[in-house]
Amino acid sequence: MIFRQLFDSVSSTYTYLIGSREGGEALIIDPVLEKVDGYIKLLEQLDVKLVKVIDTHIHADHISGIAELRNRTNCITIMGDATKAEVVSMRVSDNEIIKLESLELKSLYTPGHTDDSFSFMMNDRIFSGDTLLIRGTGRTDFQNGDPYDSYNSIFERLLKLPEGTFLYPAHDYNGNTVSTIGEEKKYNPRLQVNSVEEYVSIMNNLNLSNPKMMDIAVPTNQQLGIKHEEQKNLNGIVANEFSKKLLDEEFEIIDIREDHEVKKHGTIKGSKNVPLQKFLELIKNNSMQKKNSFLLFCAVGERSSLAIQVMKSYNIINTYHLIGGFKEWVNQNFPIIRV
Ligand SMILES: [Fe+2]
Repeated sequence: MIFRQLFDSVSSTYTYLIGSREGGEALIIDPVLEKVDGYIKLLEQLDVKLVKVIDTHIHADHISGIAELRNRTNCITIMGDATKAEVVSMRVSDNEIIKLESLELKSLYTPGHTDDSFSFMMNDRIFSGDTLLIRGTGRTDFQNGDPYDSYNSIFERLLKLPEGTFLYPAHDYNGNTVSTIGEEKKYNPRLQVNSVEEYVSIMNNLNLSNPKMMDIAVPTNQQLGIKHEEQKNLNGIVANEFSKKLLDEEFEIIDIREDHEVKKHGTIKGSKNVPLQKFLELIKNNSMQKKNSFLLFCAVGERSSLAIQVMKSYNIINTYHLIGGFKEWVNQNFPIIRV
């Protein structure tokens, strides 16, 4: 396994790069926009391919690099399902598994710092976002933060992990790089409390000023998805049109979500499941083109937009995708099947 902790000194953000040596797939957690060139260079040097990128929550102190990374590498953008971010390509719920070849990250819904905060557990380590910091905890005074939720997320979830679990937070302002759950239990000053009320009173009396970037970062980070209008320009069609095209035998219907999403939400009848990265490989190797005409859909239309972009570069033009993806299909009450 490849593991790198990267630092943005302007916002004191830690970004994590995880790579699987086997097939060379990589994942990045909490990227910072200004650092994207550096990530791309490092990915090249490590000879790995970025396939997934995660934001633990909507950040208030920097603009996320997830959209730029998506645009440059066609990776899947992921956040927890409590996010208000307009479109991320995959939303995970509490206790869901994100796969990176044989590596697995388990999502834990840990609200409190914000109402959309998730932590991600991988083997012996937890990426805690801003929920639990080294010798600190994420502030709870904006973005629907709540000190009671923070207490529950920390005491009922994170501190119940094995004491030796390594803690990798999204920020540190004092030069600390890593801690463990056991260390934080003992030495984190905010956790040495006897009741939830005591913790809440500490959190409600921090009197911090707002992050400098907040007014720009929050709204920008909420709108990093590929808008429906842009999806339309990439051969996007609305659900009604899509349903008519399904009857046309000229097209092969491809569901490019991951298999766990298909199992969880169902799919469209007649579709074949070929996850995005696999699909792009087949297109590049020219081994998917029996029919050369496809109807594509994913969760929200973001991955299918990326696929169309790539296909256009290979001159595969007679392909359409579903604007708004399976979510829109379900919203408009078109039939689904369970697999
Ligand atoms: Fe934050």
